[in-house]
Amino acid sequence: MLKFTKQQVVAEYLPDTVSPQSMKTFSFAPSNIALCKYWGKRDAELNLPINSSLSVSLAHLGSKTRILLSDTEQDQVVLNDELLAADNSFAVKVIAFIDMFRRGADHKVRVETENNIPTAAGLASSASGFAALMQAVNEFYRLELDLSLQSAFARMGSGSASRSLFTGFVEWQMGQREDGMDSIAAPLAAQWPELRIGLIKVSTAQKPVDSRSGMNRTVATAHLYQSWPMQAAADLSQLHTAIETQDFKLLGQTAEQNALSMHATMIASWPPLLYWQADSVTAMHKIWQLRAEGLSLYFTMDAGPNLKVLFNTADEAEICKQFPDMQVITPFGNQ
Ligand code: PMV
Repeated sequence: MLKFTKQQVVAEYLPDTVSPQSMKTFSFAPSNIALCKYWGKRDAELNLPINSSLSVSLAHLGSKTRILLSDTEQDQVVLNDELLAADNSFAVKVIAFIDMFRRGADHKVRVETENNIPTAAGLASSASGFAALMQAVNEFYRLELDLSLQSAFARMGSGSASRSLFTGFVEWQMGQREDGMDSIAAPLAAQWPELRIGLIKVSTAQKPVDSRSGMNRTVATAHLYQSWPMQAAADLSQLHTAIETQDFKLLGQTAEQNALSMHATMIASWPPLLYWQADSVTAMHKIWQLRAEGLSLYFTMDAGPNLKVLFNTADEAEICKQFPDMQVITPFGNQ
């Protein structure tokens, strides 16, 4: 049973009429990688999570979006300079998001989005995509919503988008309210300039099961999922300690165990859900072997086969030698 629809929740915070104005510049939002993952919804309509999560943003890698008034008969969505078909699943989601704010007003829009996340890197763009779209909507309709409200509304487009309104370490509080207005993200003050994230591409093909269906399947069928909220709460608190004390070993260990625990719940679903490929497992063994030999590196993985390697700049040269094709990201800028 639906408690609140998105439209009902958003309407509380909007003026009676909107006054759209074409944007001259693009809004930008960074992508993010969760160190403590969001996995499982307590409300599928509002994307309210079962657990709180914590991520690190990917600095200049993300999405930029602008919205223009259009005199066409249909709305238009352009992704990386390509006009999408009206029934394209991304275009449908973007227009549904716009409709939460347009509320039947008589105008058409042209939404232009560009991702500078190399699509070939196998990184999700939905987080940065919906965060940039939220910022663009705020400007286009001149709503003047603060970042907390934007985080709550971006979450309705994609859960992880709530964290992409901010840079650095970001925590998304699960919240308790039925309308979800306390389920918002906020940045942590701490920085970690030496932190590096390496991307190991195993496959860039579209994943067969998207994260929404994957979460639903896990929550509905895996008894093992019952332990996940406990694991996530413990990991979140460890990550806070690791970040406050700049303890890289604790950060890496917690992030890796958190990701593997999430994947364990997926594997225990029915039908089983295994995003890994043979090359994913080979890369895990290589990381464990290098760690046994004294290198300090850990990995995390999302709902896909690619690995994101965590390390500090002191080990960068040696780790890059071991993984020559790995793309390295500096979440806090070059140090
Ligand atoms: O925001 P969604 O619906 O794409 O879900 C993201 C799920 C994970 O990437 C696996 C975890 C996370 O917290 O980002």
